[in-house]
Amino acid sequence: MPFNNLFIADNEGIRTITINRPDQLNALDRGTIDELDRALLDADADKNVRVLIITGSGPKAFVAGADIKEFAHFSVDEGKALSADGHRKLFDHMEHMSKPVIAAVNGFALGGGLELAMSCHIRVASENARLGLPEVSLGLIPGYGGTQRLARLVGRGKAMEMLFTAGMIKADEALQWGLVNHVVPQDQLSAKCTELAVAIMKNSPTALAAAIRAVNAGYDPGTNGLQREIEEFGKLFGTADFKEGTRAFMEKRKAEFKGN
Ligand code: COA
Repeated sequence: MPFNNLFIADNEGIRTITINRPDQLNALDRGTIDELDRALLDADADKNVRVLIITGSGPKAFVAGADIKEFAHFSVDEGKALSADGHRKLFDHMEHMSKPVIAAVNGFALGGGLELAMSCHIRVASENARLGLPEVSLGLIPGYGGTQRLARLVGRGKAMEMLFTAGMIKADEALQWGLVNHVVPQDQLSAKCTELAVAIMKNSPTALAAAIRAVNAGYDPGTNGLQREIEEFGKLFGTADFKEGTRAFMEKRKAEFKGN
């Protein structure tokens, strides 16, 4: 089924998903969230996809938030369902993808837009990016994981400041805070993300998936992250990628990983 609000482009193992509602600054309405859910399922199932890049269309915005016009008249129950559905379909789904996901933050990343970037594994921002959680200015709080993921990335004090002031920070400040991994001029954003993706793709897809599961386990209150690491580490000894990686080392050649 084709997508109405997404562009999908494949390039040698890198799949770029572009959220395409530029006249609404790529705001996330429920239709777009459903499409992203489907696009993530497709990417996870496709062995040819090794790394995902998520970005927004146009020069101005990554994603300017959840679609305020869509939820402005919601009831208490509808509001709760909006948040729960979003977590399940998109934000948790993104965080637990089996392949590395890079957010190419090409402009405003506000509210749900910053929450989307934070649910990706790595963030690269262009110099014009502006990041913030403005929900309290709307009489809300972040409902797509922002209260949790922001504090994990930048610490509780800075997260509280961003939440309380509803203000935007510039890309260089976000870099200083550890909210983004790199900042580059806008015309180099795609190249920087591709460079990272190419470096990642040299490595075992099986091991990358295990690394994502192990790191994420440490943020799941019901799971012992170190114990999960032991299990994931052990399981990898039974994989073809491990055999190939160690054999290639011994034979002084580059490993050719196929994934398991
Ligand atoms: N939801 C719905 N529509 C949005 C949106 C959002 N989160 N963010 C931007 N848009 C729409 C605007 O309503 C406008 O549509 P219109 O032309 O049909 O009126 C269009 O995108 C362009 O936005 P505009 O506000 O004119 O651009 P700007 O450059 O003057 O301001 C922002 C840019 C990002 C500062 C401003 O759009 C904004 O504050 N957006 C909301 C951010 C927010 O609170 N996000 C959290 C939501 S929970």
